[in-house]
Order: sequence, then structure tokens, then C-alpha cells
Amino acid sequence: MVNVLGIGAGYVGGPTMAVMADQCPDHHFTVVDVVAEKIERWNSTDLPIFEPGLDDLIQRVRGRNLFFSTDIEKGIAKADIIFVSVNTPTKTYGKGAGYAADLQFWEKTARQIKANATSSKIVVEKSTVPVRTAQAMERILNDNPNGIHFDVLSCPEFLAEGTAIRDLEKPDRVLIGGRPDRASGLEAMNTLVSLFAHWVPREKIVCSNVWSAELSKLTANAFLAQRVSSINAISELCEKTEADVGEVARAIGMDHRIGAKFLQASVGFGGSCFKKDVLNLVYLCRFYGLDQVADYWESVVTLNQHQMDRFVDRILTHLFNTVSGKKIALFGFAFKANTGDTRESPAIHVAKRLLTEKANVVVTDPKALGNAAKDLHGLPVTFETDPYKAAEGAHAIAVLTEWDCYRGLDYRRIYDQMSKPAFIFDGRNLLDHQALFQIGFHVIPIGKPNLSHYQKPHS
Ligand code: NAD
Ligand code: UGA
Repeated sequence: MVNVLGIGAGYVGGPTMAVMADQCPDHHFTVVDVVAEKIERWNSTDLPIFEPGLDDLIQRVRGRNLFFSTDIEKGIAKADIIFVSVNTPTKTYGKGAGYAADLQFWEKTARQIKANATSSKIVVEKSTVPVRTAQAMERILNDNPNGIHFDVLSCPEFLAEGTAIRDLEKPDRVLIGGRPDRASGLEAMNTLVSLFAHWVPREKIVCSNVWSAELSKLTANAFLAQRVSSINAISELCEKTEADVGEVARAIGMDHRIGAKFLQASVGFGGSCFKKDVLNLVYLCRFYGLDQVADYWESVVTLNQHQMDRFVDRILTHLFNTVSGKKIALFGFAFKANTGDTRESPAIHVAKRLLTEKANVVVTDPKALGNAAKDLHGLPVTFETDPYKAAEGAHAIAVLTEWDCYRGLDYRRIYDQMSKPAFIFDGRNLLDHQALFQIGFHVIPIGKPNLSHYQKPHS
């Protein structure tokens, strides 16, 4: 039996350890966190995060071979393998502010591991970190008076929120970066391979050098974010030319070299990682003097900001250049469907800009209202669980999250209760635009011709 410890009980740490515990019933898993309230919730029926399939999974493994605890010291002392999934946010102070990753939580964790370890251990980076972080960690950990040896491996996590359990159970690949040139490094890599081999087909477990693994994670997110910005850039051109971004995406996606996924034009990408990781990459490039490479990647984030801004600009234009005192219902606040997470959600930006324009903003979302209330704390916003009530008397609806439940609403009923002219700004191209137009709505999609009842549709 191997004792596995997960440090950090967040969106990555909780689901990752739960799936491992489920797949490796012969091993013992503990998840620890500094936030006692979070651990309490992991030990209750009210889990701290919403993720499809997570509740059932936790029911199955908690108390069997998965335990949540605040006793970090004990957890470290007992562990053979430690997965570190603490947060690595963008630095907000000092050198690299606004770009570099803030590694203070990671380093504190490393020092805590060193202080409480009584035997050699494998320490695994699950958090997304700048390339060469493993070296710094190894230096901190192995400089100890007890002669304890630590091997630091990189095993970046590629799960996406909303599909985390499926992604963990059937990953496209598991990447293990290490130091196979050293005997203990090779042994550590083999130990980790055996752990994942419990459920991941061997050909999907990929080994590489530790720096490649660290850089692969930043690169994967940069490529994914770049695809969204690329299709969003084309969406603006579509709006000028009466092309339809959905048709363009379908046509290019059928080319197997391009592929059909991640070509959904939107109000912009959100989430805790895309912007953070691309900016981290930009910082690393500038650090190494690669200014052109840095500028290239930074444009992915600049374009995303532009996409969110022009979404609000279009609301203003269509609502006759003023939204002051007008009720605008935001349908969805999560950064994507099937999660309650609102970190870096485009909805935050849209809501704040509409408030600056003195709009009367009402937010509805099936899972994210708690987080939305924190994001907009102190601002004059109304939160409403019922989308029908949210839209009552509204001048416009802005669809900001692609929740399935918004497709099935009775839009005739909604239309009847709205102020006229009634507008829908579909920031996800989620709804049936023709049907809405027939009801009487003015429909403003992303990257498609508007469906407006006025003689001269304006862009
Ligand atoms: P999170 O904020 O949800 O969770 C991090 C947890 O670590 C928090 O609960 C925090 O209290 C805890 N923590 C911080 N310092 C600690 C310490 N010293 N000891 C114990 N616990 C500590 O963050 P997350 O979304 O789970 O992301 C974690 C890392 O994984 C980040 O580097 C992120 O880039 C990466 N990642 C995230 C996702 C995702 O979908 N959210 C996917 C892949 C990778
Ligand atoms: C992303 C990556 O997909 C994961 O592989 C990675 O592990 C994770 O970041 C991370 O490192 O945190 P996540 O942010 O959870 O996962 O969700 P995505 O599905 O990637 O969506 C990110 C954002 O892009 C969302 O706001 C989504 O709505 C938007 N998006 C995505 C689009 O606007 N269009 C698309 O076609 C796809």
C-alpha cells in the first residue's frame, strides 16, 4: 500500500485525488488544505465545488481510502508520494506583477514538506508552474540536515472544469516529467507510472524530461486559448462581412489538420488559467529576451479583452447608446457551463462595464450565484435564481454562459414580459436565433448577421 498525500483541496486537488482513490483501492489517499472551512465542506454533503459526477464519486471513496484533513504535518510525515496542487496565481506585486506566476504558496508548501518529512519522498508538481520550478523545489527540499532525499517530478494536470471527472478517468495523456538520468529519478518516474497504470492505458502515459513537462502545460493552455482568440478574431470580421462564424468554424474544423474542437466563438474565454498561464509564458519569454515571441502570445490575451469589450460596446450601440436605468438580465455568470466557478469569467467584466454605464444589472445562473455575489460584492446588482423573473421588465438579455437550461426556456413568455423593443445578445451563440426573431426579439449573435426588425440593421 502506498500513502499518497494531496496538498491543496481545490478544483484540481479534490477531484484528482478522488479519482485516484477510486481507481487505486489498494492505496491510501489524504487531501489536506490550509483552509479549514474547505476541508469541512469536503467532509460534508455540501462539497466546496460543483463538478458533474463528483458527489457520487466522493460518496464512494470518502472514508474508504480517501480522507480530507487539515493536519498537514501528519499527512506529510506519513506520505510516500505528495501531489502539490496549490494555487499559482498571477503575481500582483513587485517584479513581474501582472504577468509572472506567484510561487509563494508552492514554496511555502515545499518548506513545510521539508520541515515535517522523516523519510524520502516523491514530490509531484500538479499545479501549473513556470518552466524550471522543479529545480528550485529540489534545491529547497534537498538542502536538509537529515539527509532525506526528495525527487521532484512534474505531472501537469490537463483536466477542464465541467468535465473534470471524465477527463481524469479517461485522460488523453498523463505526462510525467522527471530526471531519468539519475537512478532515484528513474525510480520515482517508474513509481508514478505504476500508480497511473492502475487505470490509464500504458501508451497514454508519456514520460519526458522535467522541463519539457513543465513547458508542455503552459504550451497546451496557450494553444487552446489561442484557438479561442483566433475564432473570436474571425467572428468580428464575420460581423462586418455577413459571413457566419459557425459556418466558417464548421468548414475549417472538417480539415483533420485543424480539427473541430475549441472553435466556438464567444464573448471571450475565462477561467482561472488561460489568461494566467499565457501571461506567465509571456513573462518567461521576456525574461529570456524573446520579445517577439512574448508579443505573439500576449496578443491572445489582448484579443480576448477586446472581444469582451466589444460585446459590451454592441449592447450599448443597439440599446440606442444608453443603458442608464435599463434592466439588463445576464443569463449565466460561470466562465463556462457545468461549473460554479466564476474566476476570470467574462461575465464579471461585462457586469462591471454595464454598471459603469448605470444599467440595472440582474444576474441569474444555476450554479454560480454564490461566487457571482462575491465577485460583485458591494455593487448594486440583483441576483435571481429564476431566469423568468430575471428577465421580467428587462430591455435586454445577455447570454454569457452556455448552460443547456437556457435553451429550453419559454422565450415567448419571456418576450411578453420584457420591455420593448426586446433584445437578446447571445454571447455564446447558444439559442435558436430564428425562433427568437420570429417571436419578436432583436437578436444580436457573435460573428453572425444580426436578426433585427429594423429596416437597416446596424452592426
Ligand atoms: P484552487 O485555488 O481551487 O485550490 C488551491 C488550494 O490550495 C486552495 O484550497 C488553497 O487553500 C490551497 N493551498 C494554498 N497554499 C496551501 C498550503 N501551503 N498548504 C495547503 N493548502 C494550500 O486552485 P485550482 O483551480 O485547484 O488550481 C491549482 C493549480 O492547478 C494551479 O496551479 C492551476 O493553474 C492548476 N490547474 C488548474 C486547473 C483547473 O481547472 N482549475 C486545471 C489544471 C491545472
Ligand atoms: C482549460 C484547459 O482546457 C484544460 O486542459 C486545463 O487543464 C485548464 O484550462 C487549466 O489549466 O486550468 P478550463 O479553463 O477549465 O480548462 O475550461 P475550457 O473548456 O478550456 O474553457 C476555457 C474558456 O474558454 C471558457 O471560458 C470557455 O467558455 C472558453 N471557450 C472554450 C470558448 O469560448 N470557445 C471554445 O471553443 C472553447
